[in-house]
Amino acid sequence: MPGNDPTLLFTNSGMVQFKDVFLGAEKRSYVRAADVQRCLRAGGKHNDLDSVGYTARHHTFFEMLGNWSFGDYFKKEAIAWAWELLTEVWKLPAERLLVTVYHDDDEAYDLWHDTIGLPPERIIRIGDNKGAPYASDNFWQMADTGPCGPCTEIFYDHGADIPGGPPGSPEEDGDRFIEIWNLVFMQFDRQPDGSLQPLPAPCVDTGMGLERLAAVLQHAHSNYEIDLFQALIAKAAELTGTTDLEHKSLRVIADHIRACSFLIVDGVLPSNEGRGYVLRRIIRRALRHGWMLGVREPFFHRLVATLDALMGEAYPELGQQRALVERALKAEEERFAETLDSGMRIFDEVAARSDGVIPGEDAFRLYDTYGFPLDLTADIARERGLEVDTAGFDAAMARQRETARAAGKFSAGPVLPADLVAKLQPTEFLGYEDLQAGGLEVVALLQDGRPVDELVAGQEGVVLLDKTPFYAESGGQVGDSGELAEQDVRFKVEDTQKYAGQFHGHVGRLQAGTLRKGDHLMGAVDAVRRASTIRNHSATHLLHAALREVLGTHVAQKGSLVAPARLRFDFSHFQPLTAEELERIEGRVNEQIRANHAAEVQLMDMQEALDSGAMALFGEKYGERVRVMRMGESSIELCGGTHVERTGDIGLFKIVSESGVSAGVRRIEALTGQGALDHVARREHEFGELLQLLGATPAEAGEKVRLLLQRQKMLERELEGLKARAASGATADLGSEAVDVGGFKVLAKRLEGFDAKALREAVDRLKQQLGDAVVVLAGVSDGKASLVAGVSGHAASHLKAGELMSHVAGQIGGKGGGRADMAQGGGDDGPALVAALAAVPEWVRTSLQ
Ligand code: ALA
Repeated sequence: MPGNDPTLLFTNSGMVQFKDVFLGAEKRSYVRAADVQRCLRAGGKHNDLDSVGYTARHHTFFEMLGNWSFGDYFKKEAIAWAWELLTEVWKLPAERLLVTVYHDDDEAYDLWHDTIGLPPERIIRIGDNKGAPYASDNFWQMADTGPCGPCTEIFYDHGADIPGGPPGSPEEDGDRFIEIWNLVFMQFDRQPDGSLQPLPAPCVDTGMGLERLAAVLQHAHSNYEIDLFQALIAKAAELTGTTDLEHKSLRVIADHIRACSFLIVDGVLPSNEGRGYVLRRIIRRALRHGWMLGVREPFFHRLVATLDALMGEAYPELGQQRALVERALKAEEERFAETLDSGMRIFDEVAARSDGVIPGEDAFRLYDTYGFPLDLTADIARERGLEVDTAGFDAAMARQRETARAAGKFSAGPVLPADLVAKLQPTEFLGYEDLQAGGLEVVALLQDGRPVDELVAGQEGVVLLDKTPFYAESGGQVGDSGELAEQDVRFKVEDTQKYAGQFHGHVGRLQAGTLRKGDHLMGAVDAVRRASTIRNHSATHLLHAALREVLGTHVAQKGSLVAPARLRFDFSHFQPLTAEELERIEGRVNEQIRANHAAEVQLMDMQEALDSGAMALFGEKYGERVRVMRMGESSIELCGGTHVERTGDIGLFKIVSESGVSAGVRRIEALTGQGALDHVARREHEFGELLQLLGATPAEAGEKVRLLLQRQKMLERELEGLKARAASGATADLGSEAVDVGGFKVLAKRLEGFDAKALREAVDRLKQQLGDAVVVLAGVSDGKASLVAGVSGHAASHLKAGELMSHVAGQIGGKGGGRADMAQGGGDDGPALVAALAAVPEWVRTSLQ
């Protein structure tokens, strides 16, 4: 993932991180560098997704080796060093190498010819072969704008038995001549209007594909035969039950698991927009290849472990996030599995009646209903020698957008029968201004999702009205509750949901009377609940703005819940927020509340709204005319929800938690108004109790706790010392209690309050003191006994402490064991212990016989 570069979908080459250095906008402490960069070419200017599986050399994800000069060395050195590394260090046969240069780059041509000594037939000039000035295989650019320049490429000839021709020939796309290294002479900055501005200093950017180089060095003719891929292919074969290790689909799967895993590691998750959609397309392409191999169960995520084993050492983040990667992939597998089968059947039907081209309408149906990205359909078509009418697809897509727009700006929620939708007018929403309204006509009634003509008292159902003050859940804001009534009819509204994207469905129970289609009702929204909700909604906007001010403009809304009791806001950000950041964010929101800005709503055209700087959610459907909500200078957002009149109505804003939701997504939960005050009061109360316990004022409390902790530590140390002294005192004359058994001193004793450590020390002392001895001590407290046994001197050649221990512990319902000279154990305190200890001399006697 590129750091902060909106002109790029992905890091497509090694130079991405150095872009600003080339442009002169950033200075580094060095003017030369060499590196290895994870790259992805699956969208944007450089996209190899469609080629993966069909050639020996293309990947979505790969590692690029590069060396760099930032205004330091230039063509001469770059060419000489590249040649030296390839032919002298790696000892590639020079006669297998050939190069291309940009058609008018005589300097590069001469260097290859005069200095390196390449014959003219192995130096190929390539012109603008891509249909525009500077659009050439030998003029490299990162994106439509930015650093660019002519390049010279080094090719390796894999030999005449591989199909393909040299660069510039009609067969150049074969796998015989493979570009292994590209040396770019960065000299220009391409402007949005297409013109080229010289860079402050000429630079060098070289890129060598690690996988292609490895293939050459490992004497393989395909990247997929190198070690990095073989283990993945073998695992994919095992998971899919495939015996043909050359199968194209295995290569696709092996390639895609690398791309998908690293994307997720970098914070991208499958979604329907931007990077997330590219990820989804790659995953689905891999799954479809698994499907072709006969797999019907999730398998793809099970390759992550193998990948981690291969690459985890170089990229530890892979191991650290393995569980997340597996979870995300598995979830996507389960999701797609639901439609993959039926989608493939549809494709087969369409293919069977096609005349070589899959109609755009059908490709769109596969996309819309079965989740087949267009390139997936194209991939399948290509396998069967068919094409896809992509223009027709685009047209169908545009038509659907239009319909969706007409259907309202929010995504469709619960559905309604189509004939009902056709008959009804979208519900008119009165609730921006009014919480109560009369004369609301019942246009439809639903029971268990089916239209009915009436509801009777006690029944649950959904009421659709021609107009309503009830807000239907959307944009994160929960639906209103309240009551619909007229004379003896009373319908309690529990929730309001948007049906088919445009009809407010009042969900609840009829408490009295009979409700019929055509009846007229009076509606009253629960005003207290709505007031709490709008405070949280407006505060959410202020929070969003404050997050962008404090953390940066990479913060984008990822999810939002606006309920009466609290608000929850998910947003993109890559690390936990610090206490200081949270304090600043909370402070900033409260400042905006005190400024008491009017919450101003304006209806405007979408473009006008975007031009005014309003934040819109990526991927969200908006209509032509949009509501723009402005509060103060910094908060301006597209929003269909309901809001306070002035920010001061929010009262108080209090963050109560900050946590992580998924890679790169954080969550803040907060309270406003009375809820925030209650929270503060609760905390105050808890703190008050604490102060009372401490007998301190708030200002003294911290110091007092510090002192208490200090004092406790001191006391603990003192106690340790006393215990040790007491123990040695208590055991000092224990030695005299030992009895003589067969010439050995035997001592078994129960001691109050001794822990295992004190027992061990005492046993050690007694062994020293008694010489040839057998000692068992039991330290008891709270009905439990710890045991330590020791055998010393000559006794050790006859008796084992471990055996003695199991013997004693066994009698007191416990266990124990250890070495020959020292053993530990435990069990219950009680008469059995006393008896067991008393029997130790007898055990010694018997054991000696
Ligand atoms: N930036 C050059 C490339 O990616 C080296 O090919």
